[in-house]
Amino acid sequence: MYEELINCALEAKMKAYAPYSNFCVGTALLCKDGKIFTGCNIENASFSATLCAERVAFFKAISEGEKEFSAIAIVGRKNKEEFCQPCGMCLQVMSEFCDDDFQVVLYDGSERKIFQLKELIPFRFDNLSGDK
Ligand code: THU
Repeated sequence: MYEELINCALEAKMKAYAPYSNFCVGTALLCKDGKIFTGCNIENASFSATLCAERVAFFKAISEGEKEFSAIAIVGRKNKEEFCQPCGMCLQVMSEFCDDDFQVVLYDGSERKIFQLKELIPFRFDNLSGDK
């Protein structure tokens, strides 16, 4: 089911700009309307200006008017393909736009692991509800 999404992520990984870590990541974000936006990590000499591949895909999609997402495929690592879990900052960005059942699909070159967003970030920061 997620084969196309994983292939898009593998292709996006080839565009990663990671001269400092050599840790290349590719992502492919599936919108509810069927469109796919890809991302790769983009590092910077300052280190702190580095952007993860997940956020690149999200920001590309959101800046093109997309707001509803169903899944993201994530591939990458240093030398060989291994599972690459999204970092906490990217999970927080996903949680801003995605429902609890948003699917996070990891691929290590042979196996897939699929998580629901709520498993990876069960207690998300939420500034929209709560105190009035
Ligand atoms: N990175 C990602 O792009 N996504 C992740 O989920 C984890 C880390 C990038 C950031 C940096 O360029 C490199 O991987 C090493 O941390």
